[in-house]
Amino acid sequence: MAKSFDIESFVRPNILKLKPYSSARDEYKDIDQDMTFLDANENPFENGVNRYPDPQQRDLKQQLAKIKRVTASQILLGNGSDEVLDLIFRAFCEPSSDNVITLPPTYGMYGVLADTNNISNKEVYLTPDFEPDVERILKSVDAHTKIIFLCSPNNPTGNSFSSASIQQILESFNGLVVVDEAYIDFSEKESWLSKLKEFPNLIVTQTLSKAYGVAGIRVGVCYASEEIISILNKIKPPYNVNKLSQEKALERVLDQERVKEEVKAILDEKEKMISKLENIFFIKTIYPSDGNFVLVRVDDADKRYQQLISSGVVIRNRSSQPLCENTLRLTIGTAQENEILIKALKNIE
Ligand SMILES: Cc1ncc(COP(=O)(O)O)c(C=O)c1O
Repeated sequence: MAKSFDIESFVRPNILKLKPYSSARDEYKDIDQDMTFLDANENPFENGVNRYPDPQQRDLKQQLAKIKRVTASQILLGNGSDEVLDLIFRAFCEPSSDNVITLPPTYGMYGVLADTNNISNKEVYLTPDFEPDVERILKSVDAHTKIIFLCSPNNPTGNSFSSASIQQILESFNGLVVVDEAYIDFSEKESWLSKLKEFPNLIVTQTLSKAYGVAGIRVGVCYASEEIISILNKIKPPYNVNKLSQEKALERVLDQERVKEEVKAILDEKEKMISKLENIFFIKTIYPSDGNFVLVRVDDADKRYQQLISSGVVIRNRSSQPLCENTLRLTIGTAQENEILIKALKNIE
């Protein structure tokens, strides 16, 4: 049976009351009909982008809905998933009184967005094997805890969280649970999308920046109940995904075969990379990864990072994150790029 959840009691009162900005194209849903548009103070001379984009990105949502087996009304698109995450903060967390829970080491933007929105961020570190500490998470919840952020597969550790832990948090927490699945397309684990009906407090975020290979166009996706999506829709900037991005995103989403081929190539390269990393003398641990990156623990991360920079290779030093002393995170590139990294690592003394 689906969990009962009164979403309205979680929305900030000002957002609940707010009458959203209604853009010209929102008011006129039938923009495909042959209409004369003299409503939005656009320049009428055609150049492909002289008109405002579809504020509801219907073509793209329709395709995503088909592929992900949800309805278009369960989707909100943003200028990257970073924008989607920010909208979630702004809709549900009251500045200077509410709080969220994040699980470091994890994606840094949750903390930055909490600070930007003046929301207190309760950090409950992952266990030493990078799993959520469910008991401590639930103990940290108070009457003002609105959201728990779970990043699975997690950046920078690479592992997916145990399904049992995520399920327990969804069942026990009377608030929103955001599962950030930015790297899900590289993983064999099942997405939490199929659980949206069962858990009305679940929000799943994904992105076209990773497996879909279009980080430059900035398109992030939020999947949730229709009720949650309609609240987020009230506050999203009217034209937050531009026309060129919508077109390019649709092209990529339609080309599933190419996306799958690229994902397979990246995963094959990851396996090759891992086997080569095993022979690098200063790499002590290679952590299993469900993403397109690998976290390694080395003898001296600052030193090794600087040596790689001197060889012209930029990776990410994650040592400042809790539980990540002396760790480096490497993104899997093309075969040629990976060869350059391995060569540089081998030449380091
Ligand atoms: C876990 C995670 N979530 C979200 C994002 C942001 O993605 P986007 O490019 O869609 O803003 C990233 C980017 O690195 C990420 O690692």
